[in-house]
Amino acid sequence: MSLETPLLVSRFRTDTPLDRLHDSERRPRARIPIPWSHFDGSRYPKGALEIAAQAHSALATGEYGAVAFFGRLAAAMSLHGAPFDLISAACKVPADEIRHAETVLRLASLSAGVDPTISIDRRRVEARWSGGLSLERLDVLIMEVVAVGETLATALLMGCREHARDPVARAVFASIVADEVHHARLGWYYLGWRAPKWSRPERLRVADRAGRLVADAELAFWRGHDAPRGSKRGARALGVLDSESQRAAVRWVMEDEIVPGLDALGLGASHAWRGRRRGSDRAYEKHRRRGVPVSAD
Ligand SMILES: [Fe+2]
Ligand SMILES: [Fe+2]
Repeated sequence: MSLETPLLVSRFRTDTPLDRLHDSERRPRARIPIPWSHFDGSRYPKGALEIAAQAHSALATGEYGAVAFFGRLAAAMSLHGAPFDLISAACKVPADEIRHAETVLRLASLSAGVDPTISIDRRRVEARWSGGLSLERLDVLIMEVVAVGETLATALLMGCREHARDPVARAVFASIVADEVHHARLGWYYLGWRAPKWSRPERLRVADRAGRLVADAELAFWRGHDAPRGSKRGARALGVLDSESQRAAVRWVMEDEIVPGLDALGLGASHAWRGRRRGSDRAYEKHRRRGVPVSAD
């Protein structure tokens, strides 16, 4: 639809739990308290603190970048007349993401002993929107970044939370996971609303992108943050996912959540998963040199 044509909007919502949430969420979600003063860096080896500061700063970079993405996404959804409850859910995400960025940076500063600075690749953030704001583009972006990306991010953060024995790191990851679950659901509910309306060519375009994403997922997340010898336990306690745990989390969420979810939308992901590019250190290095994004943000 051309942007010169006015958008005609009348009040409508989806018939999903988001609709109920839309009514109840005038009360903000209860937040998990974080016992910041309980952090004791002297309990961890230097190598564990260093890798934790690195991993948590990398996570903060993704969280910060997500603020701009979801801000635009909410605007694009409103300009395409998405259901009111979905737009409302999208509007809340940037506030969550900036809170995540700040919380994870604060955690990184405890490990680093100084306030870390993160570098945001603005071109990469902008590139997501270089194809314009068409509804077709919006469908692909929501499938890719919100449904698949946020579901993957939730699984990885759940992995961090499960390993984290440190009370501060554990509370940080628990509080972020509690929000990410809602972000992922927004993506799946949007697709559930859109899928029945897709023409065959529209479905094929989304399926094509979903297939490529699924085929690359194992390789894209092949490498986690591996601590040096003697620091592995400490790093895990601080909520750092090593390569092995990251691969296990990705495999679990792809097979139990993402692939079946995409299949249910008629996007034929099982086929792509069976034929996926198998991970190996060599294949990962090649993949990275090609400049393909390798994070879930
Ligand atoms: Fe987040
Ligand atoms: Fe998120």
